[in-house]
Order: sequence, then C-alpha cells, then structure tokens
Amino acid sequence: EKAQAQQATRFAFTPIPAATDSVVHVPEGYSWQRLVSWGDPLFSGIDAFDSAIGGAAADSDKVFGENTDGMELFVIGGKQVIAVNHEYTNRKTNLPQTADGVPRDGQDVLKLQNLQGIAVFEIVENDTGWTVVLDSPFNRRITQNTPMQFSGPATGHDLLKTAADADGVESLGTFNNCGSGKTPWGTYLTCEENFNGYFGATEEPELTEQIADGYKRYGISTEGWGYDYHKWDPRFDTSKNPNEPHRAGWIVEIDPSNPKSTPVKRTALGRFKHENAETVLAPDGRVVVYMGDDERGEFLYKFVSKDAYAPGADTSTLLDEGQLYVARFHDDMTGEWVSLTPDTTGMSEAEIAIFSRIAASKVGATTMDRPEWVAVNPISVEAYCALTNNSRRGVKPNAGGDWTPVAGPNPREANKYGQIVRWRPSGDDHASETFEWDLYVMAGNPTVHEGDYAGSANINEGNLFNSPDGMAIDSTGLIWIQTDGDDSDEGDFAGNGNNQMLAGDPVTGRIERFLTGPKGAEVTGLCWSADRRTMFVGVQHPDAPFPDGEGRLPRSSIIAIKRDDNLPVG
Ligand code: FEO
Ligand code: CA
Ligand code: CA
Repeated sequence: EKAQAQQATRFAFTPIPAATDSVVHVPEGYSWQRLVSWGDPLFSGIDAFDSAIGGAAADSDKVFGENTDGMELFVIGGKQVIAVNHEYTNRKTNLPQTADGVPRDGQDVLKLQNLQGIAVFEIVENDTGWTVVLDSPFNRRITQNTPMQFSGPATGHDLLKTAADADGVESLGTFNNCGSGKTPWGTYLTCEENFNGYFGATEEPELTEQIADGYKRYGISTEGWGYDYHKWDPRFDTSKNPNEPHRAGWIVEIDPSNPKSTPVKRTALGRFKHENAETVLAPDGRVVVYMGDDERGEFLYKFVSKDAYAPGADTSTLLDEGQLYVARFHDDMTGEWVSLTPDTTGMSEAEIAIFSRIAASKVGATTMDRPEWVAVNPISVEAYCALTNNSRRGVKPNAGGDWTPVAGPNPREANKYGQIVRWRPSGDDHASETFEWDLYVMAGNPTVHEGDYAGSANINEGNLFNSPDGMAIDSTGLIWIQTDGDDSDEGDFAGNGNNQMLAGDPVTGRIERFLTGPKGAEVTGLCWSADRRTMFVGVQHPDAPFPDGEGRLPRSSIIAIKRDDNLPVG
C-alpha cells in the first residue's frame, strides 16, 4: 500500500500522448506560459523584437539570445536569478535580410556573436505569471566577445598564446554553450561544446605537428561550419591565429551575483566538447564534477578537487587543483575512473588539459555513444548519463579515428535511439575510482522492431522517445529526460512524435511522457523556482509558427510550467 502511494506521488500527472503539432502540450491539471524568447529585451529603452529584421543588430547584446539551453536558478539576496546558455545561432532566422544566412559583413558576424553566450537575469512572479525584471542589477549578457580569464594548469601555456594575448591568460568570449552546472557555492558553470565550428582559415594554416594533431581530433577545419567569422574577424582565422581554437572548449565559471565579475575558464576540467557539468560533493567535501564529451566515440570524464569545499571559505581555486579522470566500462558491469596524469599519459599537466581527448585515448578510455548530460540523484548515491545515439557505433571509426566496438554500455551497432547509463560509485563516494553500472533505459521502438532496437523493457508504445539529451533529477528523485532527436514520426521513429520531456522512476524504471515540444524543436534546459512550484523548460530551435504564429520568425523560448493547484512540480 505504501509502495502504491509512493508510486502515485512519483508520477503526479497523467501521461500525455506523442504530438506532431506546433504547440507545447503538458498534462491535464498543468499549464504553461512563455517566460522569455529570443530577442526579448533584458533592459529598458530597447525596442520590442521585430520579426521582420530578426531583432535589431544594435541591441543584440542586450536581449535574450538565441537557442536557449542549459540553465540554473539562483536565489541571491531573496531575488530569483536565472543564468542560461545561448548555444548557437540559426543563421537564416537570425539574419533574415540575407538570402541564406551567410554573414554579409562584420556587423552580421557581430550580431551572431552577440546572440550567443549566456544571459543572466532576474525573474519575478506576479498576478499574471512570471516575467523578466528589466534593468535588474543582476541582468547581464555574456557574449562571444566578453573578456574572460584562464585559470588552472593550462594558464599561460604557449598553446594558449595569441597576438592579442601574448601571456595566454585571458581570452574573449565563450562558445556554443550547451549544458550547465551549478556549484555548491552559488556559481554557474557553462559548458563550451561545438566550439570547433566557429573557426576557419582564409589560407592554408602552417601548423606544428602537435597543433595539427589537435585540429584533427577536435575537428578544426579550414571551412568551419558556415558562421564565416574567419572572413570578417581575424581572431577566428586559424591561418593568422592558430592557437585561438585552444582557447575554447572549456568549462567557464560565472558568478551570477556579481554582474561585473570576470568569467573564468577552468582548464583543470579539460578541453573537449563539453555537454554539462554535474557537480556533487564527496563525503569528505571534495568537489566532483561529471562531464560528457558529446561526440561519437568520445568519453565520459570526471574531476575531483584536491581540497574540500567548506561553506564560507574561499572557493576561487577549488576547480583549479585536482584530478581529471576518464571512464573505462567493463563488460562485467564494473568500471573504473582512470586518472589522466603525466605518468599515465606521457603528457604535461597543461597538455592533458588542452588535449584531454588525446590523453584519454592513451589510457584506453571507453568510447561512448555521444555522452550528453550527466545527472546525479540527490537521494541515492548514483549518477546517470544520457548517451544520445551513435550512427557510427560498430560500423565506422569515430571522429578521432578510433574504432568503436559494440560493448558494455554501448551495446547496439549504428545506435539510432540512445540509452541512459547509470553508475553507483564504490563506497557510496562519488570521488571513488571504481563503480558498478547498468543501463537505466535503452530507447527503441517496439512497434517496428524486435530485439535490441525495440528498446529495454521499460519502453512501450505509450512512452516512445529517441535521443535522450538534457537530464535533471529533482529533489524527490524523479529523473527528467529531455530529447533532441528525430521528430519525423516515421519509420524507425514512428510514434515518437516531436521532441519531448519524460519523467522516470529510478527504482521501478517506469518512464512516462510529461511534455511534448513544438515541431522542429529540441527540449533542453530545466530548472525550478525557489519554491519548486514552477518548472522552467527550454524550447530550442522550434519551427515556425512557434511561438508567435504564422508569418513570424520562430523563436527559442523558456516556458514556465505550473500545476493548476499550485503544488510543487516534481
Ligand atoms: Fe549541445 Fe550535445 O548538445
Ligand atoms: Ca544537448
Ligand atoms: Ca543533442
């Protein structure tokens, strides 16, 4: 009876069906409103968003940016402040005056650079719902040009030095900020993911062998991904600044309580395509940061600080000294965290930080199916990582050139659906160097497949999804799973509908659908109001007509979800 009651509270909602339309659906008894969308002002004196021009270029560093992603809520002096990432830009949407989203000049590039980075802003709930507090002293935009400091082992290394920063100690801007994290001392961690795409070359760069090897492993090309920054801003031209790409791919710590603070790039946490940074304290107070590298066949990492966190004590160097590890999973359901040190890799501390992928390959880390968000269970000593999919698993080498065998927590060839791996550290200590693992879920489609591609036993016709990505575990231990996958609703994905958010019970494995996003969007980013009566969810890159209707540009948005009876959500 007690178990039944608990089960009832675990899922305090009626699961909803898949959807293929252009609106957001939540369960009966819940409702949602829009909090903020791309182009909405954070300060007064700025024009409202003009869909005809994709927002004024001149105001692009004073508005809510594009592609809302990871976010965290902070309570600062009784005020509620959200810090949120603006992952990348949708050039055709953001530059509607151009024929195909190709920047025409440096001004177009600057607009794109301004619409990315981070927004920090105060919010308040009043009679009509949640709103952004214009001109709050906490409001701030951090862009791809905001000055930042380096700290940790790579600081001042030759590979970080450029013409503009001969000492290799400070850089400009933050790039492709994907997932997030929150430290026990109230700072925001933003994670630089696909930074490689912003760099290109106007002529063939002359590179040392070490730098060329790094470019290959991290995907730095002469063409870039179409942003064309290098054609207008020489900082991004690797034939002029070959070390500039080494200054991106980091985790950046931001103090949301001080809008004048300089963001710090924490090089001890390694350089790769960072998804998020899930932070938890070990029993002895040391800080453990779990981190995925979202690329086919790349790795899962963790950092353990040397010193313990003590409330009120200086935290300014806690993330600078410690040990970076990479995960090795064994087929017998055990695993180990292998330390990346000069002894284990033959590389210097600075090189391990700058070329973490190369260091991790040297110790035989397990190639994963694109590690996305890691989430730690606050009521049980365990952690989860969403492995979103891997079209190359077992059929082609990964991007770094390594073969990715079908094994361990990556059990399916050409994995279209993704899975969530869970591990329990030995001794109930997240700082432990060993663990036991299992798969919490293998997504799949039992309506079109039998066997492995049907998914695990907790997948059924009523909760189909693919490509788990964002993840957070609430204070009751419920796992919230957000998806960024194929929303064609056809073939292998028939019945999946649009991207969505589901809730999972870690104990029973039961998973139910809570939200469906609008067509085209991924659902990413999740945090709660201080009283937990509101859940904030990100809707990234929707197709039109979301949210403003036909004939308007689509706009990434944060929505606020409440229960109609105003009880806590989750
Ligand atoms: Fe930016 Fe791996 O998602
Ligand atoms: Ca993601
Ligand atoms: Ca993804």
